[in-house]
Amino acid sequence: MSDVLRLGIAGLGVASTQILPPISTLPFIKVTAAADTRTDALAKFREAYKGETFTSVDAMCASPNVDAVYVATPNQLHARHVITAANHKKHVIVEKPMALSIEECEAMNQAAEKNRVNLLCGHTHSFDPPVRKIREIVKSGELGKLCMINTWNYNEFMYRPRMKHELATSRGVVLNQGPHHVDIVRLIGGGIVRSVRAMTGIWDKARAHEGSYACYLEFEDGTPATLIYSGYGFFDSAELFSWVGEGGQHRDPDTNLKVRRQLREVQSPEEEERLKEGMRFGGQREGEFSHVWSGERKQPFFGFTLVSCERGDIRQTPDGLLVYGENEKREITLPPGRRGREAEVEELYDAVVHGRPVFHDGRWGAATLEVCLAMLESAEQRKEIFLSHQVPSPE
Ligand SMILES: NC(=O)c1ccc[n+]([C@@H]2O[C@H](COP(=O)([O-])OP(=O)(O)OC[C@H]3O[C@@H](n4cnc5c(N)ncnc54)[C@H](O)[C@@H]3O)[C@@H](O)[C@H]2O)c1
Repeated sequence: MSDVLRLGIAGLGVASTQILPPISTLPFIKVTAAADTRTDALAKFREAYKGETFTSVDAMCASPNVDAVYVATPNQLHARHVITAANHKKHVIVEKPMALSIEECEAMNQAAEKNRVNLLCGHTHSFDPPVRKIREIVKSGELGKLCMINTWNYNEFMYRPRMKHELATSRGVVLNQGPHHVDIVRLIGGGIVRSVRAMTGIWDKARAHEGSYACYLEFEDGTPATLIYSGYGFFDSAELFSWVGEGGQHRDPDTNLKVRRQLREVQSPEEEERLKEGMRFGGQREGEFSHVWSGERKQPFFGFTLVSCERGDIRQTPDGLLVYGENEKREITLPPGRRGREAEVEELYDAVVHGRPVFHDGRWGAATLEVCLAMLESAEQRKEIFLSHQVPSPE
């Protein structure tokens, strides 16, 4: 293989508008193909990227011009498309959630292992430089033992335009946003969650899927963490963070109100689907919810995370971290670094070309999904759920 990784993208939907712009400028990546069932999107892809196009993921996986496949199709197809890619000896990045059940994750991991390809569970905020730095400080022990992790994210997730069955498949915010939250907390806390107790909330009958959760979890060493999420678009946690958005872009302080207002004007599920269609690759409103942003970029921010150790607290700032110690309050400015999708494809490139290990591999992804599924089970049964597929944080 040459020292450029040739990538085929499966699914030219909204996610692709966040994936393609940042990765297509990287010198070690060449986007060579796309697969989608929508032929107009494929035509626009040919125009923009001059790559091969296919109306099925299977056909794209057979192309000799693709080394790795980025799976950004709907959640219920992740397992099928990852397994197909692996069986064609293609390396794979899969969007969150990795899959919809632990059994699917197991089949995906077995396919990757059998075919000796790398499987990377992508789009996670544990790639973000501030989150990695928090982990580094915690692990170094300079602030003593880790004592607790608390994280809050409030935004308008539930009112973004969706396809009809989308909120049902992702169980609202739990399987869509939960993987980000859980990944951050697991990375910082060492990875191995012992048990989960959670309650989820369905507050809006017009969008009757889980729009909130309050989750308490314990790591194997007894360290507690709380994860709080509301996608109901009232309070916005970016207000606590100088209006920096998830991708480090400026977030309009009126985002919640605007997005709720936009959806109120939509008359039917079909009209909502058309709204989403316009936001996909090549659509008239392409990139509307994208984190791609050409203005000044701060560090990415997925909610307010406060990490407490015996001798100090740590939180993110727009440019890095604040460490509240016994004798001083210290700001650590971090270089922009690779983040999000750029970091993912670099991790895969390093694994494929330089033989380095993939950190966010399929076992890590399955462990994150297990926590999210446990949130749902705990909420349904109103009891603590014990876990069995956990793996430690990468070195
Ligand atoms: N929307 C976002 O902002 C966003 C952000 C990050 C991650 N994600 C994740 O990305 C994935 C896709 O989400 P989305 O919002 O882009 O959805 P979407 O519906 O906009 O995109 C899915 C794309 O896959 C195509 N597709 C469907 N079935 C296919 C098949 N059998 N073969 C080939 N292509 C097929 C669709 O035509 C569509 O273009 C989900 O797993 C989601 O969790 C979405």
